[in-house]
Amino acid sequence: MPRLPQDPLEYQATLLLFYEEEIMGEALFAGLAQRFPAPQPNRALQLLSQMERCVADHVRPLLDEYGLCPRSDAELHGIGLLEAEQRSDSSWEDYLKHIVVDFPVFLDEFAALMRVAPEADRPRLRVFDDHEVAAIAFAKRALRGDPDSAILLTDFIAAYRPLSPPLQEEVAQSPNPAPASPRAQ
Ligand SMILES: [Fe+2]
Repeated sequence: MPRLPQDPLEYQATLLLFYEEEIMGEALFAGLAQRFPAPQPNRALQLLSQMERCVADHVRPLLDEYGLCPRSDAELHGIGLLEAEQRSDSSWEDYLKHIVVDFPVFLDEFAALMRVAPEADRPRLRVFDDHEVAAIAFAKRALRGDPDSAILLTDFIAAYRPLSPPLQEEVAQSPNPAPASPRAQ
């Protein structure tokens, strides 16, 4: 299966793969949180896990639209947990360096997905890029010893969690949308 889709025909298969990798990532980071129990690393990894779920939830309507059926969460989580067990980072600092060095390749993959995506899907696909940029920026700040580095992760979650786009779209597409506030009447 292509990781760098070249053709629109590869779009849906790649979208499905990337969605599944976010679900795997949810379990991977949760599994790593067990390996790094100190408060700051543990919290950061829990937040990274939540980010993965946010990304998956955000693009899920596209899978449903195309009739794409991902493997079950249980199966994908099993793969993610296995990967967490197999990682051999000896320290939290090692893992942060791994994020800084190895995660930028995902930005190339997301850019390739964006290039072959239908125009209408692109706004929703931006979440892939956004979360990777946030994760890399977080790791850089954490490596510099910034105690507030995790705010990049909490900001991302706050941006994508509370007012999910499907809800906004439902309101926008409703023939009789509820007024935003009493003053709108
Ligand atoms: Fe991810």
